[in-house]
Amino acid sequence: MADKPRVSVIGLGKLGACIAACFAHKGFSVVGADVSAKTVDMVNQHQPPVFEPQLGELMAGSGDRLRATQDVAQAIVDTDATLIVVPTPSTEEGGFSIDYVIEAARSIGRGLKAKDGYHLVVLTSTVLPGSTEYGMIPVLERESGKRCGQDFGVCYSPEFIALGQVIKDFLNPEFLLIGEQDERAGEMLASIYLAVCDNQPKIARMNLVNSELTKISVNAYVTMRISFANMVASLSEQLPGGDVDTVTGALGLDTRIGSRYLKGAVAFGGPCFPRDNQALAYLARQLGQTGALAEAVHAYNASSNQKLADRVLEAIPKGGSVSVLGLSYKPDSNVIEEAPGFLLAKKLVESGATVTVHDPMAMDAVRRVLGDRVKYAATVDEAMAAADVIVITNPDRNRP
Ligand SMILES: NC(=O)c1ccc[n+]([C@@H]2O[C@H](COP(=O)([O-])OP(=O)(O)OC[C@H]3O[C@@H](n4cnc5c(N)ncnc54)[C@H](O)[C@@H]3O)[C@@H](O)[C@H]2O)c1
Repeated sequence: MADKPRVSVIGLGKLGACIAACFAHKGFSVVGADVSAKTVDMVNQHQPPVFEPQLGELMAGSGDRLRATQDVAQAIVDTDATLIVVPTPSTEEGGFSIDYVIEAARSIGRGLKAKDGYHLVVLTSTVLPGSTEYGMIPVLERESGKRCGQDFGVCYSPEFIALGQVIKDFLNPEFLLIGEQDERAGEMLASIYLAVCDNQPKIARMNLVNSELTKISVNAYVTMRISFANMVASLSEQLPGGDVDTVTGALGLDTRIGSRYLKGAVAFGGPCFPRDNQALAYLARQLGQTGALAEAVHAYNASSNQKLADRVLEAIPKGGSVSVLGLSYKPDSNVIEEAPGFLLAKKLVESGATVTVHDPMAMDAVRRVLGDRVKYAATVDEAMAAADVIVITNPDRNRP
């Protein structure tokens, strides 16, 4: 093995493309693999296949350390460690489908069969507890004819990143979560991460199932805090002299509570928080327990979105109009999945309101859903000029 292990990243989407670029930026030789020919072509031309701040710069500066292929098995043969970052869509019941993981594992297994020497396989995609051990590992063993823990190692290691700051978060993680099937695999992944991080994060190493449970628990816990702060905000609004920031500011001084993610505001959204919270409730139900805590957070969050729409509708004068500033779930992102601004615009339009929207990055995504049912303002000023009521749903401070 060379100085640094060669790394392959399977799935070059919103998360995987950034991870591949970060490794190349830190001097690793990286092979990205994706089923999409367009994505592979873009990466080979050092063009970012998804929007994410800094991704273009990192890819442009990655030289011959980053290349991409559609041949997943060959990417395994050509590298020493592999991160799997394919989609795990939510199921109707609230769990996660691992169909894409299994498909990727089949190709990876074929690669393992064709290569000599030890290989580390890391599942990064969000999954339910048990998926790595009972879903992925048997497929890898069957396709490769090799033994996990002997010929190859397996870890589960998810990322806690927010879109719009994926690269910053990946290089400066709050902590590293490593689920390991055996010590050798965990040791190898820890040393790879420490060579790529800008900071010196604490590392939580554990077995596979605990790491899978930790991933969804972290996000479900954060959503509970957000909903709690929103509930306090709601109460304070009805109390004369009430002010949520004063209350949460004081709550945060208690070290048992802490101040982060404790700010009354709009509902949480995006591609991770809502579905990880739902998955925890699903897991509880599957285990014959109550999912009530996570279900209550989910219901409260939906009610926050509805309440905002009701309040705005009340505030619009007869025949008047409203502008929604901010459509993505976060600044610097074009993702509108479960985003409060997008959901608000949709609810308002469905209630017959005249709606103008503005967002520096997410208007194309909204246009694909709402079409010409809303007006799209090119600037904040244009959006403000058009409206009787203005709603700011996203703390984007960097844009005109
Ligand atoms: N986006 C986030 O904010 C975020 C944060 C934390 C965790 N995650 C998790 O990471 C995983 C990936 O999320 P994403 O947002 O990057 O998804 P994405 O849809 O943006 O990208 C997934 C990529 O995988 C490719 N792919 C699908 N099947 C494949 C296969 N068999 N072989 C090779 N490539 C394949 C797709 O073509 C696509 O380019 C999910 O499990 C998600 O829950 C995402």
